[in-house]
Amino acid sequence: MSQDPNAKVGIDVSEVGANAAETGERDLSDHVDVVDDHEAFHEPPDFHALAEHGHVATQLDLDAEPIITVDNLKMYFPVKSSGLVRRTVGHVQAVDGVSFQVPRGGSLGLVGESGCGKSTTGRLITRLYKPTGGSMMFEGHDLAKLSTSEMKPLRRNVQMIFQDPYTSLNPRHTVGSIVGAPLAVHNIVPKDKILPRVQELLEVVGLNPEHYNRYPNEFSGGQRQRIGIARALTLNPKLLVADEPVSALDVSIQAQVVNLLQDLQREFDIAFLFIAHDLAVVRHFCPEVAVMYLGKIVEIGDRETIYGHAHHPYTQALLSAVPDVKQAAIGGRRERIRLEGDVPSPINPPSGCRFRTRCQFAQEICAKVEPPLLQIGKRHKVACHFAGELGAHPATPVTTDLLGVDDQGSPVPGATPSNTQLTGPGYEKTWYDLRSKQTTGV
Ligand SMILES: Nc1ncnc2c1ncn2[C@@H]1O[C@H](COP(=O)(O)OP(=O)(O)OP(=O)(O)O)[C@@H](O)[C@H]1O
Ligand code: SF4
Ligand SMILES: [Mg+2]
Repeated sequence: MSQDPNAKVGIDVSEVGANAAETGERDLSDHVDVVDDHEAFHEPPDFHALAEHGHVATQLDLDAEPIITVDNLKMYFPVKSSGLVRRTVGHVQAVDGVSFQVPRGGSLGLVGESGCGKSTTGRLITRLYKPTGGSMMFEGHDLAKLSTSEMKPLRRNVQMIFQDPYTSLNPRHTVGSIVGAPLAVHNIVPKDKILPRVQELLEVVGLNPEHYNRYPNEFSGGQRQRIGIARALTLNPKLLVADEPVSALDVSIQAQVVNLLQDLQREFDIAFLFIAHDLAVVRHFCPEVAVMYLGKIVEIGDRETIYGHAHHPYTQALLSAVPDVKQAAIGGRRERIRLEGDVPSPINPPSGCRFRTRCQFAQEICAKVEPPLLQIGKRHKVACHFAGELGAHPATPVTTDLLGVDDQGSPVPGATPSNTQLTGPGYEKTWYDLRSKQTTGV
């Protein structure tokens, strides 16, 4: 190699991650010799086939401590009026009181329709946004409260993989510069050690380490995503937020990248918040799944429970749209549950249950009282007054005793609402049994 490699490897980091559309793409098509995929969507990837190659679905470690505990997290984006004096006229309630835990070395999937707040949740955890409220406890620190400078030493522990491998890599920077940038920013290794570390990382993600001085445009979509993964790994993170990490890739490449993420997780004990539309991918990668609707978690639980025994009408509808999810979650039925209407505006969400404008089971109480995210099983929580498996939704609300209201949602004079099982991001040892309406446990 004739050039000084470190001259190529990351010093100007100011533009790393800038949008390609802003900076303009270089046409390097004459140099492309490594394309291995095509950006077409046909059919879902065959995640059953992964098992044949030793990539069985990731399993749940019940003993794992949480690496992050998110409690009542909120992000309200101000909506400004037009005109010279721009006043705040409302708020987009993108994330509104979300609570969950991600186990150390484990993965929680976050699913839901477009605009429900998945990416905003991920961006809050990586502190790309400062939350409006709530807490995010990570190794004794509340990430929600820290200033930018206080965040700096912690930032290396929580990194993000972005959806679009085309726009998330700066086309003007070499791969070495992109992957090495975090090392330079955090001043972690001496300058002359940056290149060897970059090459090591490229190898770890399955790229040719000699390609460090190429530009993103010289790589295919799958390879660019590997570059994004290498960048996220540079600082040895303990938690990775993967925001739709494979949805922009060709189906044949999706499985490879998911395999890579699984290998990395096992090798480096990395925890994942795995955000995705694709419920088949999430089922493979995540032993636990949270379902979001309009800024709130409506159901959360372990994989078998969510995919086999979903209790929320929204989860049931989502699952019914997945061709290969055909078990009890949809009552053994194969037909799709049609969701009527659009997702309401997060600026002015419906009162009570936010899903009520599209829910076939909605009754009076649903407009009056917000259903709490109630623990109803060992590792299962649901926010629905009429929670039940499809075909077995109760005729009367299950939440009235807990909330001290009658079947229509009006307060019962003298009733004492019980907060048991209604709060807290993790799972309690006891829960509310829907049949007996008693607290129970193992
Ligand atoms: N910076 C912002 N300013 C104002 N509103 C925002 C901002 N970012 C997101 N939103 C709004 O917050 C809501 C949640 O957006 P978010 O991107 O988190 O959804 P998502 O679940 O990731 O959707 P998708 O599946 O399409 O990626 C949307 O209504 C969106 O328009
Ligand atoms: S609380 Fe009511 S509106 Fe909301 S999901 Fe349950 S039944 Fe539907
Ligand atoms: Mg998103």
